[in-house]
Amino acid sequence: MKCEVFSTEAALAAALGRRIIDMIGRQPDVVLGLPTGRTPLALYQELIRLTHEERVDWSGVRTFNLDEFVGLGRGDRGGYRTFMENRLFEHVNLVERNIEFLDGRAADLDRECERYERAVVASGGVDLMLLGIGVNGHIGFNEPAGSLVARTHRVMLDEPTRAANTMWFDGDLERVPREALTMGMGTILQSRSIVLIATGDAKSEAVTALLRGGVTTRFPASFLQLHPRVRVLLDVLLADQVP
Ligand code: F6R
Repeated sequence: MKCEVFSTEAALAAALGRRIIDMIGRQPDVVLGLPTGRTPLALYQELIRLTHEERVDWSGVRTFNLDEFVGLGRGDRGGYRTFMENRLFEHVNLVERNIEFLDGRAADLDRECERYERAVVASGGVDLMLLGIGVNGHIGFNEPAGSLVARTHRVMLDEPTRAANTMWFDGDLERVPREALTMGMGTILQSRSIVLIATGDAKSEAVTALLRGGVTTRFPASFLQLHPRVRVLLDVLLADQVP
């Protein structure tokens, strides 16, 4: 895994935003895998800024988000779909049919997961998968466990993961769903290239395990070590704490 360190979170977002915009220029039908959470906020702002400044055309771009809460879907407060609409989708000219999202309100959640897997395959595969990392080593919502499910599936969320998501639910833990749908690690690892972003000192133990630890289902992010094209982008605040 190649690691790159940036002076600030803003510098990281600027560099990665530039790369993604250039990628869209070279490959207008690029397939992007997208995370939600605090980590990509600066990147999404930068993508919007560059898009407006340079009149970037997203009409051919296709996106797959990593995960969604069970029970939540389009228009729901706290839902990841709503997060993405507000933080990126509404600000660029992505075409509705090119936005793929897991629907946590689907009547049959297993079928919804199968539909998503088929959609990933039909797209020709994800060109660039962007990832954050949970303090417990989760990727998407692939939580630490004795075994991992390779494909898109339904998952019970760990309590620390629910607690970390209270910010999207007005600080109210009770409102954070207990289950989610997530792409599996196998699906994520099929992406042609992967960029994991981590910033701030709260992630130092997780990033140390990611870069220095062994491959284990108890730390799902460690499976990224098996992929030939992963870049880990850090701010210096965090990098300084990784031995
Ligand atoms: C969210 C996702 C999660 C987050 C992770 C880090 O779509 O895939 O794995 O990337 O929980 O969250 P933040 O960025 O809020 O620290």
